Amino acid sequence: MSRKNIAAGNWKMNKNYEEGLELARGLAAKSVGSNALMILATPFIHLKAVGDIIKDASHIHLAAQNCHQNASGAYTGETSLDMLKSVGVSHVILGHSERREYFHESNELLAEKVNAVLEAGLTPIFCCGERLDIREADTHVAYVANQIKESLFHLSEADFGKIIIAYEPIWAIGTGVTASPKQAQDMHREIRQMIAGKYNAATADNCSILYGGSVKPANAVELFGQPDVDGGLVGGASLKADDFCAIYEAF
Ligand code: 13P
Repeated sequence: MSRKNIAAGNWKMNKNYEEGLELARGLAAKSVGSNALMILATPFIHLKAVGDIIKDASHIHLAAQNCHQNASGAYTGETSLDMLKSVGVSHVILGHSERREYFHESNELLAEKVNAVLEAGLTPIFCCGERLDIREADTHVAYVANQIKESLFHLSEADFGKIIIAYEPIWAIGTGVTASPKQAQDMHREIRQMIAGKYNAATADNCSILYGGSVKPANAVELFGQPDVDGGLVGGASLKADDFCAIYEAF
């Protein structure tokens, strides 16, 4: 997969069914097709209906916010990749910091989920990022490198080429405190160098690396203008069609 500009909206646990469909209708009607991809990571119960709404908008893709690593079976409350595929999901967010923190997802478990998503033929959006105390201790680069190494660096070069990475510093998520364009660029460059060191320069250059954490219309242009920032994974500002369209148009 070649490097792309991407605006991905992570709705998290927001919007009831009708509200979610209204948002999707607004996005399908307003956002113009461009070279950038728009990805909507809706709650599970919205996926099928949102997929129907966006089916003629070829720039909009459907994502799940999580999946189970096993194919099927007695896992009450979980959702399989086969189910997600059957309703048109193409991307799966993995390892969001909220899943790591509240649902205890480890780097090892995420490696299993990455494998399962790739085997299903879908695209993982792999999240990484450090807490504030790690940033303050100036160990954030090593911390993120370890997340990537333990969950992704077992992959073949061909499989790694199918991954999208989202760098989301936890201190910037939902706080209104955005990483400065330089902080985002510095970490994205580090991530690209890690990939080049493990694989090669072409694989690193082809990888789409998104920034997440208080992205809004007012800062998207500057963030997305950084050479190693290929787009955003957006929470709060993806819940309003006008704001998310403005972010999508920031490339
Ligand atoms: P906010 O944009 O609300 O800070 O959330 C970022 C995020 O966690 C996206 O996955």
